[in-house]
Amino acid sequence: MSAASISDNLETHFIGQRVICYPRLTSTMEVAKKEARQGAAEGTVIVADEQTAGKGRLKRIWLSPKGNIALSVILYPDVFYLPFLIMLASLAVVHCIEAVTGLKSQVKWPNDVLINNKKVCGIIIEGNVRGGIVDYAIIGIGVNVNLRLSDFPEILSTATSLSDELRKEVSRLDVIRQLLVEIERLYLALQTGGSVFEEWRDRLVTLGRSVRVKSGKTTYEGIAESVATDGSLLLRLPDGSLNRIASGDVTLRD
Ligand code: BTN
Repeated sequence: MSAASISDNLETHFIGQRVICYPRLTSTMEVAKKEARQGAAEGTVIVADEQTAGKGRLKRIWLSPKGNIALSVILYPDVFYLPFLIMLASLAVVHCIEAVTGLKSQVKWPNDVLINNKKVCGIIIEGNVRGGIVDYAIIGIGVNVNLRLSDFPEILSTATSLSDELRKEVSRLDVIRQLLVEIERLYLALQTGGSVFEEWRDRLVTLGRSVRVKSGKTTYEGIAESVATDGSLLLRLPDGSLNRIASGDVTLRD
């Protein structure tokens, strides 16, 4: 895939107007950070056909073979908008998947995108803030597009791909272009007073469910009651207390 095939006639003002494509690299997050530190334009996108050290949340590795999408988008938002980037990114993926394939997907707190309860996309946000000013924020998105899960038994029970769901190949280019359009639309809406919180909350499959949440070294079990506007999960514990969890990994128990 070429950078021009992504950015030519792309209906955005800045997201994806500059794209850098690599056939193979360690992680688009690392390249994006380097670009951001060198002052890359907002909306610059790093895309890789294959990552050799794909980075997942909570220090996990992200499997990133050919056929999938691995990309990172460089942003310079006001610090106020940082908590909303997680919501924005997962909603952009949900909208994009539906627009390109017709498939319905859901969000598992905080930002996994699922189809039929299996993970189709992972999102990571990394940034640097100094003295209340955002140096940069990078949204990293990995979508299982043309991945035959039967070739990856280690994730077969928990993951899916667009091609496995549809039983046919999906154009990575169409998915990437649509994704960039959706990200820009939501990012601009956010900055002109729109909210992504309500839609993100309403799309969460997690709420009302019995869950196990691993946060740092602690594991909690309870009912995922609600989310706060900063994206934290509000977990009702068996003793009746409400615990606010800023980041973690959820397993649905029921
Ligand atoms: C997760 O669910 O743990 C998050 C996975 C994020 C993977 C993407 S792929 C593109 C970008 N580059 C990386 O190394 N990671 C993110």
